[in-house]
Amino acid sequence: MRRPAKVLLMSASIAVAGLASACGTQRISIPKSDPNYTSNLLGAQLFAQRCSGCHTLSYAATHGSAANPRTAQFNNGPNFDVRCERPITRVLYAIQNGGFSGAIMPQNVVVGPDAIAVARFVATYAGRQAKSAPGVTQCVDLPIGTIPATTPTATTAAGATSTTAAATPATTTATTATHAKPGTTAKKKK
Ligand code: HEC
Repeated sequence: MRRPAKVLLMSASIAVAGLASACGTQRISIPKSDPNYTSNLLGAQLFAQRCSGCHTLSYAATHGSAANPRTAQFNNGPNFDVRCERPITRVLYAIQNGGFSGAIMPQNVVVGPDAIAVARFVATYAGRQAKSAPGVTQCVDLPIGTIPATTPTATTAAGATSTTAAATPATTTATTATHAKPGTTAKKKK
């Protein structure tokens, strides 16, 4: 095929692809009024890059959760438009552990400050389309909670001069999560 024709064809198909994806396409949408705008925008972008294949969350424009249980695949994760994920430590735990079961979702898809940004974004924006039920507190009314402080005091208390060892939040929270992991010992004993 001669070059001009090829180029024409290529640009035509790009235009078609653009049109096709424009139907029903969402964009990352973090309201400017969000007090954590910068962090949550980063969290949404990371979520769209790393978590989109398995989880739905419209604020990050992702659709990875199964829309229909009959065609669901085993690795489709929960839909965060309807599933509340508060407090933030719950999301951090899932990121480090690979979901709650640790069996399907990969561990540590994001780490360190990135993991914190993603966790804050998910905790803030998940559950907004959950149906209200009598006696159930709406997700937005539940506390988001805080990231456990990684204070130098804690490091010193843990002993030694290892300020560097606990310098990254990821290392420190990972340790906390391991300790907090429910049922670990019980599982191993079986
Ligand atoms: C390969 C698919 C896959 C990827 C990629 C993935 N997840 Fe998951 N995720 C799952 C599955 C499946 C579950 C449910 C099973 C489980 O908890 O073991 C889950 C569970 C979770 C949970 C617990 C939800 C609940 O309430 O039960 C959170 C939070 C979560 N994922 C967040 C994330 C974040 C954030 C990312 C990106 C950094 C991510 N996931 C990437 C598949 C995935």
